[in-house]
Amino acid sequence: MIRPFPRSAVPRRLRLLLLLAPLHACERGPAVPAPAAAPYLDPSRPVDARVADLMSRMTLDEKLGQMAMVERTALPGDRAADLAAHGLGAVMSGGGSAPEPNTAAAWAEMYDDFQRAALGGRLRVPVLYAVDAIHGHNNVRGATIFPHNVGLGATRDPELLRRIGEATAAEIAGTGVDWTFAPCLCVARNERWGRSYESFGEDPEIAVSLATAVTGLQGARIGGSASSVLATAKHFLGDGGTTGGVDQGDTRLGEAELRRIHLPPFAEAVKRDVGAVMVSYSSWNGVPMHGHRYLVTDVLKGELGFRGIVLSDWGGIDRLDGAPHFSAADVRDAVNAGIDMVMVPVAYADFLEKLRAGVDSGAVPQERIDDAVRRILTRKFQLGLFERPFADRSLTATVGSAEHRALAREAVRRSLVLLRNDGVLPLRRTARVFVAGRHADDVGLQSGGWTLTWQGAAGDVTPGTTILAGIRAAVEGGGSVTHAPDGRGAAGHDVAVVVVGEGPYAEYAGDRTDELGLDPPDAVVLDRVRASGVPTVVVLVSGRPVVVTDRLPAWSALVAAWFPGTEGAGVADVLFGDHPPRGKLPVSWPRSAAQLPLNVGDPGYDPLFPYGFGLTYP
Ligand code: GLC
Repeated sequence: MIRPFPRSAVPRRLRLLLLLAPLHACERGPAVPAPAAAPYLDPSRPVDARVADLMSRMTLDEKLGQMAMVERTALPGDRAADLAAHGLGAVMSGGGSAPEPNTAAAWAEMYDDFQRAALGGRLRVPVLYAVDAIHGHNNVRGATIFPHNVGLGATRDPELLRRIGEATAAEIAGTGVDWTFAPCLCVARNERWGRSYESFGEDPEIAVSLATAVTGLQGARIGGSASSVLATAKHFLGDGGTTGGVDQGDTRLGEAELRRIHLPPFAEAVKRDVGAVMVSYSSWNGVPMHGHRYLVTDVLKGELGFRGIVLSDWGGIDRLDGAPHFSAADVRDAVNAGIDMVMVPVAYADFLEKLRAGVDSGAVPQERIDDAVRRILTRKFQLGLFERPFADRSLTATVGSAEHRALAREAVRRSLVLLRNDGVLPLRRTARVFVAGRHADDVGLQSGGWTLTWQGAAGDVTPGTTILAGIRAAVEGGGSVTHAPDGRGAAGHDVAVVVVGEGPYAEYAGDRTDELGLDPPDAVVLDRVRASGVPTVVVLVSGRPVVVTDRLPAWSALVAAWFPGTEGAGVADVLFGDHPPRGKLPVSWPRSAAQLPLNVGDPGYDPLFPYGFGLTYP
């Protein structure tokens, strides 16, 4: 049973951080405005020349400000001026942090307000705005919500991922936002991990092939089109390999195994000039990634030649010394390890003060600062922010468009994996269909975590089509659909479709230490339907395999639907045979939780369904 995450903790988390909000300003640069004809403002000049000219004009404090990313709630209206005063490099929305009303137009207004504040600075350096758009622009009500990565991994379709990235980028850019913390290129090795669904699968080959998502989001070249946004490969390195699948835990591997399993997707993302790389909360053999100079600087920047922004995770530098809140040592060690921008996310004056002290004392070399700022400004110039700083309202209408929803529906179809079928599928459109299960008529449950809020929630959280609505639309002629979430009344129907699975969750709230079985209420519904004797099709909505070994023989069919997102009609497209199932398991399906971790290639590998398994129709 997933422990329902105390949602009150999320506001508390932000409230706690707000208490640390800046209590004093830092030095301001000289008041001399930049000359309008300054070379850095001339778009005909090469980016590196513009960067060099701008940096030559910046004070140390103006450079340091660029290295801070701040949550939007730390800059309420009256403090937005701090953007210019501190020369902050970026603003972000944490999961669910949205303007009210939460509409695409309101996001674009909010973005422009922050940008106007930033451009009030002496050198008029625009600010970057970043969000977790990890399965569509999922913070925005009305946006298209695509299947989560585990489902997209089942498609094994690089071109589909590029198209999804392209559509998502248009919706992101239509709200002004410049940067998404996606794709997660994590390789989940133990399904107990609460972030397994953010992984494309257990073998790095899938994440390498689906890194086309980066090109979809950025386009062939960063800034090459109005809808180009910065992508982020995350979380570097080994976040999916922790012992026991514990989120933010320790990945205990030799270097050869770490490189074989977890590094290839990042190498591919770097080849695609990914805008940023986010560092993992996890550790490698006991050393926290946020302080890991060898992997962040020598391997990522040196060996792989990464030229973009290395970004910390949310408060990720705080824990380097084991104590809460970041110390001067944490700031020093994280920046010296190679982190270029710190997701503070609230106490930015304190962060800048400690970073300034580190530079003044020589603990943080000036060259390190210049490398970080050069990377940040390079991405800003490449995006065209100095020429086009405000939201492109011509793209706002793409948010939740029929075209994008059709693409998401196609992705749902392609993500489904048919694990068992005694011939009951495909269903006849004229059948008398009984539909049960709490996930059948719930857009929130079918979308999972990172949907409108950080943890996600059941209910009509955003416009979409439920799996039940898709089934209703597919039945015709003498057919009928009876919906009873509790499973009572199945007798007399031709077939029962029971839609059950996991509730929404994100990050550590999704870690499971139990037997990975069905939730008890779902088991009751399944027992009730089974007692009716009606052939049962089980549709499993989950972020990972669920242990169903004992129940499987009683089912006529089993479909893994993962977290399909807003376009639930894609499930009916397959159930009724408009499109055959084509998904292949991106993860091994265990017989029991005792087998975990269970990955293809393991000695004695004996899953219930193997990696790559998936049936189709005759
Ligand atoms: C979270 C996640 C990271 C996300 C970031 C900003 O803690 O680890 O994936 O991008 O914070 O929301």
